[in-house]
Amino acid sequence: MEEEVAYYSKDFDWNDLREEVESAQDLARVEEKMISSEHACTAALAWEKFHSRHSQGIFFKERRYLLKEFPELGRSNQDFTVLEVGCGAGSSAIPILRATTTARVYACDLSEAAVSLTNKMGEKALNEQAKSRLRTFVCDPSCEALPAWLACDACRASDFGIKSSLVSCCEGGADFITLIFALSALADLDQMSNLLKECCSVLRPGGMLLFRDYGLYDMTMLRFPADQKVAANCYRRLDGTLSYFFSCEAVRDLFTGAGLLEIELEYCCIKLVNHKTKVPMKRVWVHAKFMKPDHT
Ligand SMILES: C[S@@+](CC[C@H](N)C(=O)[O-])C[C@H]1O[C@@H](n2cnc3c(N)ncnc32)[C@H](O)[C@@H]1O
Repeated sequence: MEEEVAYYSKDFDWNDLREEVESAQDLARVEEKMISSEHACTAALAWEKFHSRHSQGIFFKERRYLLKEFPELGRSNQDFTVLEVGCGAGSSAIPILRATTTARVYACDLSEAAVSLTNKMGEKALNEQAKSRLRTFVCDPSCEALPAWLACDACRASDFGIKSSLVSCCEGGADFITLIFALSALADLDQMSNLLKECCSVLRPGGMLLFRDYGLYDMTMLRFPADQKVAANCYRRLDGTLSYFFSCEAVRDLFTGAGLLEIELEYCCIKLVNHKTKVPMKRVWVHAKFMKPDHT
């Protein structure tokens, strides 16, 4: 039997953590640097290498809390489409497919190895009916268009004005777009903004963008050595992949700047204890839901 995972988000107050961190280090006043394009290219290659190295899916772990955090993804009796951007090994796409018999999930990643891995993990983890609802493709929406079969040019141009005409020309856009630990992998705020605008263009009016990612002052941010910092709130891991740590304000600016309306936005602050060392770890994530305005 599947273990029941309850969703909760508040073990401590984020402002207390901020005060603690900022009084210990002068992080808030670190000079803003622009990230170089070299870092962006290296990061894309690094993800390809990362997924090729882990092609056996050893690190694959389904995000089982996802449906607790975003219960709308588990609506079982309605037909709906989800676009998962930056799908990695399919850790978010697969639980969504399993939760319903109706959701169609389009999963994309800039890495070909990630897309293959999602297909491979889907083969292993899903039944035939669920597998038939998964479609994967390679795409980097920060610098290229999402495919026309998701939402054709005519629909995008008319901002999906006449809903009844949609299905005959394309998939009619996504009901939900999930960005789960994907935006933080981008090199800079301009790239993130481009990706969000492209995502919005294929989201149906009234559709939701569901977001979870690393939060400012997360334990993993505080553990990065100073020489791995490449820009404000952005660090490069030893394998070359990047990790940006979001404040709620940064998320608000990015998403509303792409034309979305804020529905939920908060820090999720969880205290975990390392079983071996008994050292407490303060994890911070940002949870958010934004909606595309409904013009009808
Ligand atoms: C930490 S993984 C998250 C995977 C997945 N969303 C999950 O829930 O486990 C981040 C993924 O984003 C992908 N990625 C990074 N930059 C991207 C971009 N510009 N466009 C599409 N995918 C990107 C990486 O290849 C990687 O698979």
